[in-house]
Amino acid sequence: MKRHEFLRDLHKVTANRNYLEIGVNDGRSLKLSRVPSIAIDPAFKVVTEIKCDVHLVKATSDDFFARENPLAHLRGGRHPLRNLARGRSPVGYWKRTTLDLSFIDGMHLFEYALRDFINVEKHSDWASVIVFDDMLPRSVDEAARDRHTNAWTGDVYKLVEILNRHRPDLVTVLVDTEPTGQLVVFGADPSNTVLKDKYDEIIAEFEVPDPQKVPETILERVPAVRPETLLSAGFWRPLVRARNIGAGRSRGLPPLRRALAEYAVGG
Ligand SMILES: C[S@@+](CC[C@H](N)C(=O)[O-])C[C@H]1O[C@@H](n2cnc3c(N)ncnc32)[C@H](O)[C@@H]1O
Repeated sequence: MKRHEFLRDLHKVTANRNYLEIGVNDGRSLKLSRVPSIAIDPAFKVVTEIKCDVHLVKATSDDFFARENPLAHLRGGRHPLRNLARGRSPVGYWKRTTLDLSFIDGMHLFEYALRDFINVEKHSDWASVIVFDDMLPRSVDEAARDRHTNAWTGDVYKLVEILNRHRPDLVTVLVDTEPTGQLVVFGADPSNTVLKDKYDEIIAEFEVPDPQKVPETILERVPAVRPETLLSAGFWRPLVRARNIGAGRSRGLPPLRRALAEYAVGG
């Protein structure tokens, strides 16, 4: 299954009410969305018909997330009545928006993808689904930090090890999509600051010169599940139901974690 087919089916099984995309390029992944969306790229060149209500942002993802209330376009935004009812000033109070589905496919260097995850997680929760692209490079050349191939994954594959080591509370599933695999992350926790706190330490360890030492298991796609297997799993409906009734983390996450255990590379 190709990566965009998997993404198209993820929109279906997650029944997502909103969508955030980092890295738009010509719009081939963004065109799959039918829900209120935010899409960020400093150099997008959309050439395809977009069929959703989208806030298309010409900026780097770092600059975008540094804005006040970056998700204002999605449901939420200012909520003065609720604010007044709480006796607070209507100015500066924002109703929290939670992302249902996010796709991280911007700059293909691991430190960018790590910052993207940190920022996306702040606006996610246990029922959110966060997808990274290009997590299974096919060669050491394709995984180079200094791009010298036509198709390029860069070294974002390092996120698998980084998340599994520093965030064992997350559930991570590697998916064997064509051409270069994807990682699906469940169990986001917006209150968790471990990655932010350890950011410098992580960069110091993982930022190494080319050629990158890509693990054999990654090159051979050993830990990756078939996309069809994940998409047809039984946990999606209960996940969507629990998310839509606003079930809390302590009630919603344990059964999801158990259901995902057979697919997970971490968590
Ligand atoms: C692989 S393309 C995205 C492809 C698209 N998601 C798709 O599947 O059709 C990567 C895009 O990331 C954008 N990009 C590069 N650096 C970025 C950054 N710091 N923040 C957001 N996007 C970035 C590039 O301009 C490029 O268009």
